[in-house]
Amino acid sequence: MISGRIVLLATLASGLFGLAAAQSAEPPRMPGPAPVPRRAHAAEENTRCEGCHADIAAEWRASLHKKAHDDPAYQRALAIEPLPFCRGCHAPEADPMRDPPPELGSLGVACTSCHGDLAHVLAAPRETPRSALHPVARDAAFASASACAHCHEFSFPDPDRRFAPLFMQSTASEHRASPFAGQSCAECHMPLVGEGASKHRSHRFPASRDPALLRASARITASRGGTGAVVVRIEPLALGHAFPTGDLFRRLAIRAEAVGPEQSVLSENVRYLSRRFGRGKGRDGRSIKVLTGDDRVMPGAPTVVTLSLGEKAEGAPILWQVAYERVEHPIEEDSDQAVVEGEVVLAEGTLVPP
Ligand code: HEC
Ligand code: HEC
Ligand code: HEC
Ligand code: HEC
Ligand code: HEC
Repeated sequence: MISGRIVLLATLASGLFGLAAAQSAEPPRMPGPAPVPRRAHAAEENTRCEGCHADIAAEWRASLHKKAHDDPAYQRALAIEPLPFCRGCHAPEADPMRDPPPELGSLGVACTSCHGDLAHVLAAPRETPRSALHPVARDAAFASASACAHCHEFSFPDPDRRFAPLFMQSTASEHRASPFAGQSCAECHMPLVGEGASKHRSHRFPASRDPALLRASARITASRGGTGAVVVRIEPLALGHAFPTGDLFRRLAIRAEAVGPEQSVLSENVRYLSRRFGRGKGRDGRSIKVLTGDDRVMPGAPTVVTLSLGEKAEGAPILWQVAYERVEHPIEEDSDQAVVEGEVVLAEGTLVPP
């Protein structure tokens, strides 16, 4: 059964209304999903940006922002729920009501989606502004989480959510509640690269496909607990939000197994850290999706998980592993049945018997 990103499979129209309602409080002067002010020639305009800003363009072309629409993971998910709501964010340069023409779809989240067009290029304030070959509008908000929040935080789109938003992604609020609230998203995700005059903030935005970054985000250790148990400790490091954050089909998998003679498995156990959803009652008594749990690693304090392997594990070596996983199927249906699209092992080891 499919009960993915949107439970009451909203009609195409209510998908859009949901989006409009979520945004009416604060007009998206900062970058956000479509409908953006329509640019007649977004693809051409973007090619001009790329022509003059070659280093940044090369980084952007290798980023998930550029691939936001052509990304196979997104295309698979869109096939299940082909909503204007989705296209508005993953192909913001095109009309969300229909499949984007290839030249606009392949722009994904483009230079123009974040900076606007050449008549009005949005930029962060600078102590010593350089002269550009086009007008630049500097705005302090663009140097803050506001430059990202309209796309990286949003509710499920069904109309009930207007009164009780249920976040599909909540990276901006997680960031506000973290010890790194004073540091912008860009300070972590757009590090300064290059030398001298070509020094600039990187537009590569690596994250879920970057094993080194994922491994560096937490210090993970394990020890033996009472009667065949393993205690895994995940201490967040420079983590500006939950781990994992972003898309709802992400989780940490903590696995352990006790090993017997000839590599036989005496016992095993697994725990997933993620957001969990269930059913609750909406305003009119109808059944709606609600958040029933969230045990992701939160910045600021370690997460400690104890996995029990039973008495059989007492005198046996225990293998343990913590992995970051991107899964295809809804996590809440059956954790072990989820199809894993991508996995990065963050830490693993063997605990010998005492
Ligand atoms: C004709 C060449 C040219 C084109 C076309 C062009 N730029 Fe620029 N831009 C420059 C130069 C030169 C500067 C100043 C030096 C620098 O910051 O790289 C600049 C500066 C900027 C800055 C400000 C950097 C700062 O000082 O903070 C941003 C942002 C920017 N451009 C984005 C864009 C975007 C987005 C586009 C396409 C809509 C674009 N540019 C098109 C040449 C160009
Ligand atoms: C116009 C909407 C939009 C804006 C604005 C935006 N993003 Fe994104 N971002 C996306 C989408 C859509 C994706 C997912 C693309 C995909 O994988 O399909 C994404 C992906 C990412 C990723 C990669 C996630 C991964 O799984 O590896 C990072 C990191 C990221 N964004 C950070 C930022 C930061 C930081 C800002 C602000 C400086 C920002 N984004 C602004 C829409 C946006
Ligand atoms: C996901 C949003 C996003 C996309 C896509 C994006 N930018 Fe940026 N860009 C930013 C933000 C945010 C900053 C300012 C970061 C800061 O200084 O806090 C920035 C900074 C810049 C700067 C100044 C960099 C520096 O440090 O001197 C230039 C130039 C620029 N962008 C050009 C481009 C071009 C050209 C493209 C497309 C190839 C592009 N950007 C795509 C969000 C984006
Ligand atoms: C203190 C540094 C820091 C700050 C600030 C920060 N991030 Fe991250 N971000 C990380 C690290 C480390 C990871 C990799 C671990 C993870 O996935 O959570 C990451 C991962 C991500 C991902 C990948 C999703 C995933 O699978 O977890 C997205 C999207 C993202 N960040 C967006 C943002 C946005 C948007 C902001 C601002 C609202 C932000 N980040 C602020 C450090 C930071
Ligand atoms: C308001 C903006 C927004 C809307 C609406 C939106 N997304 Fe996303 N989506 C994002 C951002 C931002 C990310 C990146 C976060 C991350 O990587 O964890 C993302 C990531 C994803 C990913 C993971 C991509 C990957 O390669 O790992 C899938 C799949 C996805 N979205 C599908 C959808 C579908 C299907 C819909 C409609 C039901 C939708 N999205 C609606 C902003 C949006």
